[in-house]
Amino acid sequence: MTVKLRAAMAGLPSYVAGRKSPGAVVLASNESPFGLLPAVEAVINDLTAGVSRYPDMTSTRLVEAIAEHHAVAPDRIGVGAGSVEVVGQVAAAVVDAGDEVVFGWRAFEAYPIITTVVGGTAVMVPLRDHVHDVEAMAAAITGRTRLVLICNPNNPTGTAIGPTELAQLLNAVPDDVTVVIDEAYHHYADPELVPDALERYGDRDNVVVTRTFSKAFALAGLRVGYCIGAPNLVAAVRKTQVPFSVSGLAQDCAIAALGEEKEVRRRAGLTIAERRRVTTALTDAGYDVPPSQANFVWLPIGDEAADFAEHCSAGGVIVRPFAGDGVRVTIGLPEENDRFLELASAWAASHRA
Ligand SMILES: Cc1ncc(COP(=O)(O)O)c(C=O)c1O
Repeated sequence: MTVKLRAAMAGLPSYVAGRKSPGAVVLASNESPFGLLPAVEAVINDLTAGVSRYPDMTSTRLVEAIAEHHAVAPDRIGVGAGSVEVVGQVAAAVVDAGDEVVFGWRAFEAYPIITTVVGGTAVMVPLRDHVHDVEAMAAAITGRTRLVLICNPNNPTGTAIGPTELAQLLNAVPDDVTVVIDEAYHHYADPELVPDALERYGDRDNVVVTRTFSKAFALAGLRVGYCIGAPNLVAAVRKTQVPFSVSGLAQDCAIAALGEEKEVRRRAGLTIAERRRVTTALTDAGYDVPPSQANFVWLPIGDEAADFAEHCSAGGVIVRPFAGDGVRVTIGLPEENDRFLELASAWAASHRA
């Protein structure tokens, strides 16, 4: 690493610095470890010249491709620069200053930020045993609540609520309160255990399901996500999108990625098998690992989190600490996971015996 780069990185948390550190294994941000899907690579090679032009502002071909993929009408689809932008668009569409936004905590770090940006008040309902406490979430809904965010599977714990709990929570939400069910990790979830909200609740007028191209479709850097919901809600969500936020390259690559569903499922299967192996190895080493339905695992190691992450970073593996709470570790390729497991075992032997 150059002296200049090292100086620029001084002071950055290791999970950020790791992105710029050649050779480090980055298991900090839940991306796909497999690289571009073949069809996407072909599109990128062909279309780079197009970036000198503005993209289609309404992403029409992409919207139609997503609609066809899910067998729904195009007017039920809203897109954005990542599902984080789409969740923000929903919030901008339905939350006014002072309104309440209810979500479990800890969940996706963007939720409090999105709530603040739209002037809302975050009502953060503590998880119970690392899982969304649906009774407490339902009880937290008041006359001021305009939006409920359900992260399922949840980031960073990887845990999911099942069909009964999801039904219980949705049935407790008044019709005039919007619910976002954030399914960023849908492809890694066991359909027997984790309800497909789109299939079950996609028709409800107050439910919006969000999905992303950043995880199983391996396009985190290109920024494309979408939501599916009732046409009038989607129309409002479309109005709050930053114009041209989804680049032309991103639109074309996302369309190509949708055509690779078989490869996407194959890769997700590999990640699920590795998740099982990593979970077993960590449990054998003495860690408490809540059952994950996502492409990462959560180690609720509390005050050890920051030091554990530094220990991993020193060993060339970047993981994501949440100081005082735990560490989230993305499932990478088998050899990357092995490197992490060696470091985790060494830590357990010296700190947790
Ligand atoms: C639960 C959840 N939702 C949404 C996102 C954002 O994904 P995108 O890259 O589509 O903005 C993430 C990313 O980590 C996530 O964990």
